[in-house]
Order: sequence, then C-alpha cells, then structure tokens
Amino acid sequence: MSHGLLHGKRGIIFGALNEMSIAWQVALQAHAQGAKFTLTNAPIAMRMGEINGLAELTGSQVISADATKVDELENLITQSMEILGGKLDFILHSIGMSPNVRKGKHYTITDYNYYSQTMDVSAISLHKTLATAYKLDALNEWSSVVALTYIAAQRIFPDYNDMADAKSLLESITRSFGYHYGLRNKVRVNTISQSPTVTTAGQGIKGFDGFIKFAEQMSPLGNASAIDCANYCVVMFSDLTRYVTMQNLFHDGGFSNVGVTQQVVDMFEEL
Ligand SMILES: NC(=O)c1ccc[n+]([C@@H]2O[C@H](COP(=O)([O-])OP(=O)(O)OC[C@H]3O[C@@H](n4cnc5c(N)ncnc54)[C@H](O)[C@@H]3O)[C@@H](O)[C@H]2O)c1
Repeated sequence: MSHGLLHGKRGIIFGALNEMSIAWQVALQAHAQGAKFTLTNAPIAMRMGEINGLAELTGSQVISADATKVDELENLITQSMEILGGKLDFILHSIGMSPNVRKGKHYTITDYNYYSQTMDVSAISLHKTLATAYKLDALNEWSSVVALTYIAAQRIFPDYNDMADAKSLLESITRSFGYHYGLRNKVRVNTISQSPTVTTAGQGIKGFDGFIKFAEQMSPLGNASAIDCANYCVVMFSDLTRYVTMQNLFHDGGFSNVGVTQQVVDMFEEL
C-alpha cells in the first residue's frame, strides 16, 4: 500500500543481488512509496545480471561499484546525483561477505587476509561510503543512511564467525559517523538488526536452516521477513523518523529481548 512516504526523495540502494536479497525488497518498497534511486552492486555481482530486472521494475539505473574502493564510490555518488537531479536523501548499505565463512575457516584459526577482507567489505565499506558522501556534500539535511546488521554483533552465534566482529564494527561506525554527520548536516545514520532471513548471504552461514527455525521459536512474533525489513527501512528513510540517529534498531519479532520461550522449553521437556 503506498502512502507516498518517500515522494520526492532520491537515494542509492546497495546490495540487491537477486530476488531473495533484502535490498531487492527495499528497492521495490521504496519505489512503491515514490522514491527515485540508483541501484549498485560489486562488478562481480553485476555479471549475474539479475539486477537489471529490478532496474526495469523500479525505473532505476544501475551503477557498478565495489564498496571497498573509494574512487568507485565517488563515481557512484557523483553519477547518482547527476542522474537523479540533485543531492541524495537516503542510502541503504546492504552488504556482507566473509571469505572465512565461505571457505569454512573456523573462527579460532582465521585467515587474517580473509579477516581483513571481511572487515573491509562488511563494515569499513560503510565508513568509505559515508566519508565519500561527506566529502562530496552529497546528502541533504535530515537524510537517512541505514545499514543492515545482525544480533551476533552483541551476542555469540558461533557459526556467524568473523561476520560478528564485522557487524560490531559496522554498528560502531554508525554511531561515530552518525555523530559527525548529524552535527554537520543533520544526517541520520542507523543500523537495522534483522532476523535471520533466507538469502544468498544468509545461506552461507553453517547450520543456517536449523538456526532459522530456532529463531522462529524464540521470537514471540516469529522471524521478520525481508519485505517487513524493507518496510522498516522505508520508515527510516522517511520524514517520520527525523530524530532517530546513531541507533541499532532491532527488527526481529522480539528475539533480542527473549531469554527463552515456552515452545523451546516444551521441546526440551519432550527429550
Ligand atoms: N540474511 C540474513 O539472515 C541477514 C540477517 C541480518 C542482517 N543481514 C544483512 O543484510 C545485508 C544484506 O544481505 P542479504 O541477506 O540480503 O544477502 P545478499 O547476499 O542478497 O546481499 C549481500 C550483498 O552484498 C554485496 N556485496 C558483497 N561484496 C560487495 C562489495 N565489495 N561491494 C559492493 N557490494 C558487495 C553482494 O553482491 C550482495 O548483493 C548484509 O549486510 C547482511 O549481513 C542479513
């Protein structure tokens, strides 16, 4: 249902790989709410070509950028302002990748080259994006930057591996840059901490299927879907949340505040 919440707003959406991607759903919902935006992803992801279908659906242009490369981010942000006809009002950072997870390297014997890549792609890319926008003065007052994160930043989920460290850093960058950008331009920066969701990145985590069922049983509302996450992002991009900044916002059906649920206790009673 459209309320025109993002009517007249311009943005950049990172990370739509395929229909399962959370960013894909954000693009659809932002479009439905009247936003104009460019879509971007790493060159390797662009080669899969699915993003072009999303571009057609949303009337968007696609600009390739590796989010770890500042020159590519500069090009992306400059081109986006040209295409969209002015400074930006929102950015979605929906990027995560760990070579250690991909190669099945246990946390205790991490490969430090991979570890650095995990940090660079999954966390420092947010700093680089914000720093580039800051340098180019690319964001309007009261604009909103949202990055997606996971509760493993605060609590141990063993198979999340070094992504947990990356998410902690991502959330810290959100607070630090949120302070500086808020002070200078009233730009808001927040993370949304989403339920486990079946996507390409999500499925890379060992034991993900069992874990997603566990999280479902541990959340009074059940796991939040990608579409619901997209709706929350839209609200965060809108003018209805102008004084929310430097926050980590849980979007998890209540999971983060649950010690145990009756369903889980009952399962153990049956053992
Ligand atoms: N799926 C989940 O269970 C879940 C839960 C909480 C948070 N998140 C977070 O949501 C975000 C989106 O993940 P998703 O689940 O939609 O999976 P996804 O695999 O669809 O999205 C991850 C995206 O990161 C992009 N990416 C990787 N390296 C990049 C680079 N160098 N430059 C630019 N883009 C790059 C990928 O191409 C991909 O589009 C991630 O930050 C992820 O950690 C996911």
